[in-house]
Amino acid sequence: MSITQETIQAVQNSAQIEEVVADFLSLKKKGQNLWACCPFHQEKTPSFSVSPTKGFYKCFGCGAAGDAITFIREIEGISFVEAVKYLANKYGIPIQEADPHEQQAQRYKKDSLYILLNLAKEYYINILRQHDEGQTIGLSYLKERSFSEPFIKQFELGYSLDAWDAFYQFAKNKGYEEVLLEKAGLVIQKEHKTYDRFRGRIIFPIHNVSGKVIAMGARLLKTNSQQPKYINSPETDIYRKSETLYGIFQAKHQIKQKDNCYLVEGYTDVISLHMAGITNVVASSGTSLTEEQVQLISRFTQHITIVFDGDPAGIKAALRGIDMVLAKGLNVKIVLLPEGEDPDNYAHKVEAAALQNYLEERAQDFITFKTTLLIQSAQGDPIRKAGAIQEIIQSIAVIPDAVKRALLTQQCSKLLGVDEAVLSAEQNKLSSQREAEQRRRGERLLRTPIAPMTLSSRVEPGHKLEDSIKACERESVRMLLSYGTARIEGEKPLYAYLLQELEEVHFRTPEYREIIGQFQHQLAQGNVVDATYFIQHQDETIQKTAIDLTASPYEVSEHWEEQHQIYTVKEEDNLHQTVFKNILRLKLRLIQQLIEDNRAGLQGDLDPEEEEKLLQVHEALKQSETNIAHQLGIVIW
Ligand code: UTP
Ligand code: MN
Repeated sequence: MSITQETIQAVQNSAQIEEVVADFLSLKKKGQNLWACCPFHQEKTPSFSVSPTKGFYKCFGCGAAGDAITFIREIEGISFVEAVKYLANKYGIPIQEADPHEQQAQRYKKDSLYILLNLAKEYYINILRQHDEGQTIGLSYLKERSFSEPFIKQFELGYSLDAWDAFYQFAKNKGYEEVLLEKAGLVIQKEHKTYDRFRGRIIFPIHNVSGKVIAMGARLLKTNSQQPKYINSPETDIYRKSETLYGIFQAKHQIKQKDNCYLVEGYTDVISLHMAGITNVVASSGTSLTEEQVQLISRFTQHITIVFDGDPAGIKAALRGIDMVLAKGLNVKIVLLPEGEDPDNYAHKVEAAALQNYLEERAQDFITFKTTLLIQSAQGDPIRKAGAIQEIIQSIAVIPDAVKRALLTQQCSKLLGVDEAVLSAEQNKLSSQREAEQRRRGERLLRTPIAPMTLSSRVEPGHKLEDSIKACERESVRMLLSYGTARIEGEKPLYAYLLQELEEVHFRTPEYREIIGQFQHQLAQGNVVDATYFIQHQDETIQKTAIDLTASPYEVSEHWEEQHQIYTVKEEDNLHQTVFKNILRLKLRLIQQLIEDNRAGLQGDLDPEEEEKLLQVHEALKQSETNIAHQLGIVIW
């Protein structure tokens, strides 16, 4: 039997961690915290601490940590629900048993859709394999298009009979109700008749990122029909078209490993690229990319390569939409296929290795691509050229990273034959419009002058940049959790500054990324959450991370103060500087890493032109490094 969310909340609000723990251990006060020998591992000197103000325990010996509920769960070896009941009894909180129908109705509703979609998938596969019509029409069509067996299996392709209600009858016999079938988008009800949505079509199941089928795409086989070539499931409780990418489940690991995601248009493009050994590919299913889809890709990589059919008219229409991807800080490349080819056709024309080469070698940076294309189509007409230049400048101006902007401006100046200073000036106009907007909202810090700091932030030898970046990430999330709602100089809350400044930064540590993501998600729904929200989180990793972050060492151990004098200043008194410096330090480290990467590039055998380019990159990066270092008050050698 389960209990209501309200009961859990009431228990979390009432339970005093020190009282709960004191029933089991004898605690001694030292500093702000209470201490005992850890009940979860053998020890003679106490390293188990309890923070009454923050509501958690943490052992510095074995790493055990959690809130009151976790403590009872661990020490009594009971389940979450039992632990909540134990605490409810201790604090006299009435236990509301959740009405299983009520509470689970939501989940059941979704679950039953997943189950039904899965049943439909199995049904369509079965028709393709076992049914006469499936074999002679469906399967032979796939074979004719050279889709081979392993890929038909991997993508779980199926076939829907060319009949009015074959699936409907099948599902009804299984006991599924008409209402549910309709909600799942599998049947259509019209004038008291119920019939199948998909008839006489190849079925392409659409999976979510964890592999559950959430919708179907379906391709017509008849050529003489009035019907559209492809139809899809309508939006349902489990299918949001704008959040879905076809093939993401099959591609996600490879996208991460290759650190790049190919984007194509159609179902068949995805499958054909897989057959050619290119498995880091997804399709937007014929519509332009949405912000949510870009968000989904950015969980796995920051690099998108868009594969365009060789159709110049279509390309120009698509260019504008790509600015949104740039604005999200992702790197975009373009590959243009030969005229008249789509990825599917082309994959069947050339060898796999040739295709892979083609995609790698022809991939061009988006801005360069756009510049070349627009200049060509202006055909020397000065007015059209001016228009083209404006468009290019707009695309560059949305890129959040100043270093990237500077580099691209440089390159485009060459391509366009326009003085770099002119381009920068135009682009600065746009960027400063954007920044003025941000300043109006009071969220921009980077220009605030700060006192030079004495602490050297130079990376000590042997200390890897990567570690330093992670430390800065950690510090940012710690500030967010500990002081998120504190007002900086009596104005904006700290979280607003922090999130704004870090908008363009992709955190490398997954736990920190997750916490920031959840913070933003809650914010979008109007909730400003704090450390407690994460400390009471039911995801163990998040809970532990939050505790680690907020259990600041200067509070838990007196030795620590001596060792790390930096913490002895009360940081609450100087939040503005602390958060600001940390952001700058993070950005500095990221630039230094770019410099290192670039330097590595310079080691190789280079032709003079390439070398020149890398040297320019080096200069630009060094410039930004100096700027930031200057603001930080550190001298860079
Ligand atoms: P295409 O017309 O390029 O189809 O549409 P395709 O992918 O090349 O398909 P084949 O090779 O002819 O079988 C690209 C994508 O646009 C969506 C589908 O997702 C398709 O994969 N689309 C297309 C529709 O949703 N409806 C349509 O009528 C056509
Ligand atoms: Mn095609």
